[in-house]
Amino acid sequence: MLSTTLGALLLSNLLAVAQSTPIYQNATTPDYNNLTIAIVRAAPVNWPMPILNKTWTDVTLDLNGTVTYGVELIAQAATKGANLVVFPETWFPGYPKGNDNAWIAGHVEDYIANSLEIGSENWNTLLSAAVSNGVYLALGFSEKTNSSIYMAQALIDPLGNVVLHRHKVRPSGGERDIWSDGTLDGLEVITTPYGRWGLLECWEHYHPTMTFPMQAQLENLHIGSWPYQPDFNTSAALYWEAAENNMAASTIYAINSGATTLFTAVGYSAVISSTGERLAEEKAVTSMSEAPLLYYNMNTTAMHGTDAYDVNSEQSWGVLKEIEAAWAYYIPKVTGTYVLQKTVEITDLLAYAAGYNFTSGTSTAALP
Ligand SMILES: *[C@@H]1O[C@H](CO)[C@@H](O)[C@H](O)[C@H]1NC(C)=O
Ligand SMILES: *[C@@H]1O[C@H](CO)[C@@H](O)[C@H](O)[C@H]1NC(C)=O
Ligand SMILES: *[C@@H]1O[C@H](CO)[C@@H](O)[C@H](O)[C@H]1NC(C)=O
Ligand SMILES: *[C@@H]1O[C@H](CO)[C@@H](O)[C@H](O)[C@H]1NC(C)=O
Ligand SMILES: *[C@@H]1O[C@H](CO)[C@@H](O)[C@H](O)[C@H]1NC(C)=O
Ligand SMILES: *[C@@H]1O[C@H](CO)[C@@H](O)[C@H](O)[C@H]1NC(C)=O
Ligand SMILES: *[C@@H]1O[C@H](CO)[C@@H](O)[C@H](O)[C@H]1NC(C)=O
Ligand SMILES: *[C@@H]1O[C@H](CO)[C@@H](O)[C@H](O)[C@H]1NC(C)=O
Repeated sequence: MLSTTLGALLLSNLLAVAQSTPIYQNATTPDYNNLTIAIVRAAPVNWPMPILNKTWTDVTLDLNGTVTYGVELIAQAATKGANLVVFPETWFPGYPKGNDNAWIAGHVEDYIANSLEIGSENWNTLLSAAVSNGVYLALGFSEKTNSSIYMAQALIDPLGNVVLHRHKVRPSGGERDIWSDGTLDGLEVITTPYGRWGLLECWEHYHPTMTFPMQAQLENLHIGSWPYQPDFNTSAALYWEAAENNMAASTIYAINSGATTLFTAVGYSAVISSTGERLAEEKAVTSMSEAPLLYYNMNTTAMHGTDAYDVNSEQSWGVLKEIEAAWAYYIPKVTGTYVLQKTVEITDLLAYAAGYNFTSGTSTAALP
């Protein structure tokens, strides 16, 4: 678990108060009967709309503007009593819908420049927003390090501590052309005063590699971040964009984990109970300026002191061993190249973009 405290620079006074106050700076007596969750479903700044519009002509994402907008949404949620504000996948600075080779050639340089760096001014602005509004934040962002970008999630507590920071273990499909793979150690469920919380993004909900270790840790609240979501029954949606499929994965996740499960996306968003009911939803067609946030109140009182694991469950070590034992005899027990951790260098992406010919659709440099 990573734990980073916001620099004393900006908030020395606030932190001095916070250190002598047990958990919260604002709400010193949290209402466990009523965890108020705000799910961001508005689009990031400059993101092509409507939801399925994948035309990036003349679009430059704007991380600074999106951080400013994100802070506005956090403040708006806090005035409605929110304790937790949740963002979609790579909401900072926005998910690149339709990131084909031409998109990479034309936009990847801007995209990297608008990806969020830990410790940057924008990052500190978000940590400060958690503190000044007294809320938890579950962030979804494209993270820039010196040499690569990652699909990142972070859980920030109301004191500005980073209690979880993870990278999507294996970005899906074409995502792997631009973002690097994360590591398994981010698959960690966090104990909060409101029970045990876990985070996954998008198609991680489809794969036992990510779901099994999370479900073995007994979550009470699962925060699932997805990039964007058209409504159910949208004929233009490709299979991997369809609410039918993504909500099915989330519903099965909720039932298997026993956790109330958030489905957070630009557009359609929902809350699913541990028995598969839809407890709340907001449709994509609803004007996002009218309803930029979906609220849900949750009674977490019974979630204190819940166990962190159950050795006698369907997601246990014994079952994991059974999966290996059940491996079909005719499939070689070899580790293929698929699981090698892939790292995409920013320099290689920029070389691909620089050498790209938009007429022929080819580049003098290889796609990493
Ligand atoms: C799609 O988004 C682009 C960029 O914002 C915009 O120029 C275009 O008009 C949008 N297309 C539709 C059909 O709204
Ligand atoms: C829960 O908190 C929200 C936000 O403060 C409030 O609007 C709602 O009335 C509360 N519900 C209960 C049952 O206390
Ligand atoms: C974004 O804000 C940072 C300061 O946080 C500033 O240095 C940078 O120039 C801004 N970027 C743009 C494109 O305005
Ligand atoms: C939380 O506390 C800070 C510092 O005391 C204050 O500036 C801020 O307005 C408070 N936020 C809320 C939502 O009450
Ligand atoms: C990233 O680059 C900065 C500035 O060049 C340097 O100080 C830092 O050590 C680098 N970090 C890593 C992880 O390489
Ligand atoms: C899906 O949309 C079509 C066309 O609008 C409509 O006829 C049909 O009833 C819808 N199906 C469902 C399950 O909502
Ligand atoms: C919340 O749950 C607890 C424990 O299950 C229960 O005692 C309490 O009455 C519930 N509170 C509300 C407001 O429903
Ligand atoms: C780009 O590709 C087109 C079509 O293959 C070709 O005619 C043109 O010469 C290429 N341009 C460059 C600068 O290589």
